[in-house]
Amino acid sequence: MNYENILLTHQDGGVALIRLNRPRALNALNPALMTELGQAFTALDGDDSVRCIVITGDERAFAAGADIKDMADASAIDMLTRDSIGLYDSVMAVHKPIIAAVSGYCLGGGCELAMSCDMIVASDTAKFGQPEVNLGVIPGAGGTQRLTRAVGKAIAMEMILNNRTLTAEEAGHFGLVNRVVPVEGHLDEALKLAREIAARAPLAIRLAKDSINKAYEMTLQEGLAFERRNFYFLFGTEDQKEGMSAFVAKRSPEWKGR
Ligand code: CAA
Repeated sequence: MNYENILLTHQDGGVALIRLNRPRALNALNPALMTELGQAFTALDGDDSVRCIVITGDERAFAAGADIKDMADASAIDMLTRDSIGLYDSVMAVHKPIIAAVSGYCLGGGCELAMSCDMIVASDTAKFGQPEVNLGVIPGAGGTQRLTRAVGKAIAMEMILNNRTLTAEEAGHFGLVNRVVPVEGHLDEALKLAREIAARAPLAIRLAKDSINKAYEMTLQEGLAFERRNFYFLFGTEDQKEGMSAFVAKRSPEWKGR
């Protein structure tokens, strides 16, 4: 597949890297980019050689939001029928872990894209914000929901209602990101984390991700039942037999993803 707005490369150790590639527009997320992103995610999710995905921008910007120029003249009906925010659903549909490596501006739809991923590795230059009210709108790709769950109501209110931007250090403090590293090493750190996860039992990783995400959508009792069924299900896999016999034999397991 030839992409124009993203760059897709396969790295060592079962890791795929997607780079948002509209640097002159600070990687603003237009429908063409989001369509390519959806196609890439779908392809990588179905590719058995890929076990973890890293998405990044460049040093200046992960992404400065949805493309304002693209939607400035749109009517409500245009927005509804285009439903370009629906393209964010393709991120949530991916079964494999996705790590966002974020540097520089991570604003609006860019912050929402990063929050749709499973983990965020931030450079020390990263800035997280939801500035949509400055444009007369509100976050539309999950900002009011995911940010509130990540950082809590008080900080989410300040970010969304009053354009408060979080530094990387603050984002780490509030639990929005997994770790903060110097800008020159942030992508390597994300790739290293991805390789570590990619080396683990693929079915266990898949069901663990699914179970964690259900914590946002189910009651505690429903979530506990969902987790328990996944736990029992894994006893039907070759990887469970391999993992436990390797432990007993004091050797390293060899995962098959079956
Ligand atoms: N959409 C389209 N183009 C954008 C953009 C965006 N979100 N953000 C930046 N750009 C473009 C600029 O228009 C500019 O292009 P030109 O050179 O052709 O004029 C280029 O990227 C560089 O930007 P600046 O010159 O503005 O760079 P700066 O360093 O002075 O400022 C910035 C950087 C503070 C991030 C500023 O660009 C900015 O405020 N951008 C908009 C951020 C924003 O409001 N994001 C939310 C968008 S709405 C949304 O995301 C809705 C949703 O929930 C889905």
